[in-house]
Amino acid sequence: MELALITGAASGIGRETALQMARSGYQAIAVDVNVDGGQKLAEEARQADLSLTFISADVSDDQETDHLFSYVRTLGAPLTALVNAAGIVVFDNPENISLADFDRIIRVNLRSVWLMCNKARPLMFEAGGGAMVNISSVHAWATDNLVSPYTASKGGISALTRSLAIAWGRQGIRVNAVLPGPIDTPLMRANLRAVGDEEEEYAKTGAALALGRVGQPIEIAHVVEFLCSAKASFMTGAEILVDGGMLAHA
Ligand SMILES: NC(=O)c1ccc[n+]([C@@H]2O[C@H](COP(=O)([O-])OP(=O)(O)OC[C@H]3O[C@@H](n4cnc5c(N)ncnc54)[C@H](O)[C@@H]3O)[C@@H](O)[C@H]2O)c1
Repeated sequence: MELALITGAASGIGRETALQMARSGYQAIAVDVNVDGGQKLAEEARQADLSLTFISADVSDDQETDHLFSYVRTLGAPLTALVNAAGIVVFDNPENISLADFDRIIRVNLRSVWLMCNKARPLMFEAGGGAMVNISSVHAWATDNLVSPYTASKGGISALTRSLAIAWGRQGIRVNAVLPGPIDTPLMRANLRAVGDEEEEYAKTGAALALGRVGQPIEIAHVVEFLCSAKASFMTGAEILVDGGMLAHA
């Protein structure tokens, strides 16, 4: 069985992606700092007879990611998919955001992608090739005043994705980014609560999109699954908007 490693897998987009990759035949290695959420995911997968293992690790940490990849090596199966979905956000105007928060966001959102992609590369190369998918955001392209460090991290992910794609294409490794619009996850719900009444903001957010509704994590997971599959064999260095038409608006 081929291995798919998914970060941020205890919640939201990463969680649904880990389940979807397992449903599509991978052995999913689900990584997160949230041990409770990760164990619940592993139990849900077990009950559904899916091959999924939860590993607790901080994906922004050099040593912890070293341990993670040492473990992945012991599995002795080819690593052919990596999905970087771990991410955090702080919602405020730039002048109110501390340097510590800026550093934390860049570390978790961007440094983690650097570490994970670089450490996965030799395993993928040995496996004869594979696909990496980095979860960026519509904020990499069009943003607002309240998420400046997050926007910087997502712009960084998109640019890094292009550079890695060029570097590793001839090694059989494709690297793409997915740019979700508003997706109903705990992270999005927390953002809504930061700006007003959660249900009112949810309705407004959906109504502003061409499709007239907020997206669901499975709608990102399906695109990630496609990008990791042979059907996307000529795609690399791409940024795929999955935003319900959000950025189609003037
Ligand atoms: N939900 C949206 O509307 C939306 C839109 C655009 C992009 N995104 C991106 O999608 C990704 C997933 O977001 P989500 O909405 O599912 O959020 P979420 O909060 O539901 O899930 C994020 C997960 O990442 C984990 N995580 C945080 N720091 C970590 C670390 N250092 N090491 C390992 N795991 C860590 C959290 O514990 C959590 O389980 C993020 O990168 C986010 O920026 C989300």
